[in-house]
Amino acid sequence: YWVGLGSIASSLPVAIAACSSQTTAGDWQAVGTSAELDKTGQILAKNSPVGPVLVVGTSKNVNLTAVNPTCSHAGCTVAWQAEAKKFACPCHGSEFGVDGKVQRGPATTPLKTYAAKIEGDSVVVKPT
Ligand code: FES
Repeated sequence: YWVGLGSIASSLPVAIAACSSQTTAGDWQAVGTSAELDKTGQILAKNSPVGPVLVVGTSKNVNLTAVNPTCSHAGCTVAWQAEAKKFACPCHGSEFGVDGKVQRGPATTPLKTYAAKIEGDSVVVKPT
């Protein structure tokens, strides 16, 4: 005999999506305070929830620059050179622009970049 579809559907278990407070890769993560950023023009957060992050700029910048400062050549930590507006690696001389792109080798792949902004008193970043 015949069973109506409606009765089958209503007997299926219902999955309930639970809200989680755990962070995910797409979340904004605080890496420091705007006061810290303004003091030196940069924040180096080596153990942030999204990995190593170097943010440069001031809290007045609409577009902050943020990269993973791990050199793509052999893993040294690059340093920000404010006058030249680039990241330079102390190990073998690679240089990267504010967009993370290689300007000078031996590195051949860009630095990973992050979106960065000021939120309240915090500097927050998110993988791009
Ligand atoms: Fe940066 Fe070699 S590790 S240039």
